Amino acid sequence: MTFDNYNDFVWSDGKLNSTSITITRTKKHKPHPSDDELRFGSSFTDHMFCMDYNESNGWHDPRIVPYQPLILDPATAVLHYAQSVFDGLKVYRCQDGIIRFFRATKHAERLNRSCKYLCIPTIDSEMIIQSFHALVSIDQTWIPSKRGTALYLRPTVIASEAFLGVHSAKTYTYFLILSPVGSYYEEGISPVKIMATDTYVRAVKGGLGAAKTAANYAASIFASEDAKKFGCNQVLWLDGIEHRYLDEIGTMNVMMKIKDEIITPPLNGAILDGVTRDSILTLCRDLGIKVSERRISIEEVMTAAHSGALNEMWGTGTAVVVLSIGELRYKNDKVIINGGKPGAFMQKLYDMIVSIQYGDIKDCHNWMSVLQTLK
Ligand code: COI
Repeated sequence: MTFDNYNDFVWSDGKLNSTSITITRTKKHKPHPSDDELRFGSSFTDHMFCMDYNESNGWHDPRIVPYQPLILDPATAVLHYAQSVFDGLKVYRCQDGIIRFFRATKHAERLNRSCKYLCIPTIDSEMIIQSFHALVSIDQTWIPSKRGTALYLRPTVIASEAFLGVHSAKTYTYFLILSPVGSYYEEGISPVKIMATDTYVRAVKGGLGAAKTAANYAASIFASEDAKKFGCNQVLWLDGIEHRYLDEIGTMNVMMKIKDEIITPPLNGAILDGVTRDSILTLCRDLGIKVSERRISIEEVMTAAHSGALNEMWGTGTAVVVLSIGELRYKNDKVIINGGKPGAFMQKLYDMIVSIQYGDIKDCHNWMSVLQTLK
């Protein structure tokens, strides 16, 4: 292992501050998967970023180390009570050869909002952004270049205190890992089949639904396995009180086009404030399309589908970007949306966002930020 120091590096905009990130480089580089064989989240780069928190030092000891297992006491709070948050964002090798993050600041801000829901001490957003740049900079050869691929960043915070009482832990670890990724679903962007459930609930208003926290994903697993038994890929979550109003799809935000209007559930405290959701809504507004963030019931959706007014339906998320929904089931009813094919409007949105991400078209909203490379 070799040791050097983050302060040894000069960043291209000269902006970096006095924070010192210790860097321990691996001596054993792993083989890179080829762009063609990339799936989601199964291979990881050579290094990871870690930082710890305790009451006397706050967040301290930022470091980049070879990718390695975490050593946790079996009594560590996160293993028992799931006091943890994460986020997920992507960095792209753009067609001009420049490496750019998509909406890194928004993801860092959301990580901190998630921390607040879980009583986890927030991290200076600038420090989070620096961890992104420093780690990606070191492992930048891992960024794939094929269209549809990216390097996925997974910043995570866990309660690291070994204590079995239920309380807000006194110590935490922030870590960041990187994974070169292709499509989230094996089907790629082919339309998926979904099943609306009034039996299972992902989250309720007043709970943790708006936080990106492990518990929400754990709560989704039973229902999504159940949906698979019925030949569906995912669950359409309805609200946790009346079991009527749409919340999310699988691990994504949900949107639809009914006549000429784009409708998506409002940020009601039970659903995630998706970065892709926000980006897609912004693009719709740029196109002059009417966007309604409003409650929509499953009955309204099924009625619109039967009358032919529901033209398209899709999910949005960082992992999938946009995912078309070809079939929707609810109780004994089943509708095929847009002949089971990806809709033209959704495809246009997908093409627009991907063109911004890969630098083909002008990034009018300044969503992309250039990787600050080490000189
Ligand atoms: C995303 O769409 O990025 C997600 O949050 C899904 C992820 C948990 C795999």
